[in-house]
Amino acid sequence: MQRVFIEEIARYEGQAVLLRGWLTNRRSKGKIHFLQLRDGTGFIQATALKGELPEAQFEEADHLPQETALEVWGVVRADHRAPGGYELAVQGLRVIARPSREYPITPKEHGVDFLMDHRHLHLRHRRAWATLRVRDELERAIHDFFHARGFVRLDAPILTPNAVEGTTDLFEVDLFDGEKAYLSQSGQLYAEAGAMAFGKVYTFGPTFRAERSKTRRHLLEFWMIEPEVAFMTHQENLKLQEELVAYLVGRVLEKRRLELEMLERDTQPLEKAAQGGFPRITYTEAVERLNRIAAEKPELGLTPLAWGEDFGAPHEAALSQQFDRPVFVEKYPAAIKAFYMQPDPDDPRVVLNDDLLAHEGVGEIIGGSERIHDPELLRQKIREHGLPEEVFDWYMDLRLFGSVPHAGFGLGLERTVRWICGLEHIREAIPFPRMYTRMRP
Ligand code: 4AD
Ligand code: MG
Repeated sequence: MQRVFIEEIARYEGQAVLLRGWLTNRRSKGKIHFLQLRDGTGFIQATALKGELPEAQFEEADHLPQETALEVWGVVRADHRAPGGYELAVQGLRVIARPSREYPITPKEHGVDFLMDHRHLHLRHRRAWATLRVRDELERAIHDFFHARGFVRLDAPILTPNAVEGTTDLFEVDLFDGEKAYLSQSGQLYAEAGAMAFGKVYTFGPTFRAERSKTRRHLLEFWMIEPEVAFMTHQENLKLQEELVAYLVGRVLEKRRLELEMLERDTQPLEKAAQGGFPRITYTEAVERLNRIAAEKPELGLTPLAWGEDFGAPHEAALSQQFDRPVFVEKYPAAIKAFYMQPDPDDPRVVLNDDLLAHEGVGEIIGGSERIHDPELLRQKIREHGLPEEVFDWYMDLRLFGSVPHAGFGLGLERTVRWICGLEHIREAIPFPRMYTRMRP
């Protein structure tokens, strides 16, 4: 009998097939056992009717514990009441491995901490399964998007002497003879070297920030995608970001409908995002809007902002709720942004940067900017930010040999997964989250 996967079961309607997987749940009504199975590619119900399989097997099916590994064979039947639209009429089964202990994650409700303590097992369950399949689709879509546009993937190092995004959240690593390095906060500086060598590059790798606070959108270890393009301007940078995000959302809507349904995700806001056309406002306009919201809706408890102050999560949430798709906030004050950002020629108090805020109150998923290409200005900024000049020698070199305007951005993968899947907390968006309060399993 042919061994098939649940994902492709529709193709075998009316045929006898063999499935290999695990038992997730089971119930009985005397002469009939309902076995819920999963095989990694999906979930299905196998129905065992007394008399249609050998008596000993029918009997055994009534005593199998959750997470028993087994082979089941039978005929694929369409059933509109079944979640995937099909079920298996069992003709036989064989146990491959019985659990040696009682499985800890039962069908009853468990607290988040309990599930995260058992994350190595929790991955088997529907929510984690659906979420991480969306993540996988996004990862593939990202590569497809950039390769179709002629970008070269460039892997940035993880150990680095350079602080990119400020010095407050660095993870320090002891090297040899008292020398120190950091875990990379961002691959950007290396991507800039790549852009001058290959024109268009993107990095895709883990990045690290020692965030000492509990929030629903910060991880210590997260994956970032950082495109960098020679000769690209600020405006072109926004366009690339919009095309990428619209494409990614469209891909998930196309290929991961079932998963979004399992997550009970309202797809309406995603359909909007997939259309592109993201509105653009400046930081200055954003401050005015926020102060208006704070005054009109005191119940939100939004702190009014003075020009020059950075947004907190509640500000981003309030802003993003005013739009029906992601919104760009551009041209932030130079003083609250990274050293490498190009000043706006029309107003040097602000820089040619942007944050893309996902709508529905989610907030920042992308940070990007045009980079300083003038060596003198860059040197001055490195000094002003109190960064050690000697470790930026190589980065300065990029401005000494044919320096050109260039730009890029960083998309946070888990922030994007969290938004697209509609997750309450970012910890669900990665297989094994690393947070201030969680290092295991
Ligand atoms: O805005 P950030 O700090 O920008 C950079 O790192 C630039 N060097 C990117 C570039 O221009 N090449 O971070 C970029 C994105 C954020 O928008 C967010 O999505 C994600 O990285 N991010 C985090 N995600 C999870 N946990 C954290 N602690 C994160 N910090 C940033
Ligand atoms: Mg940012």
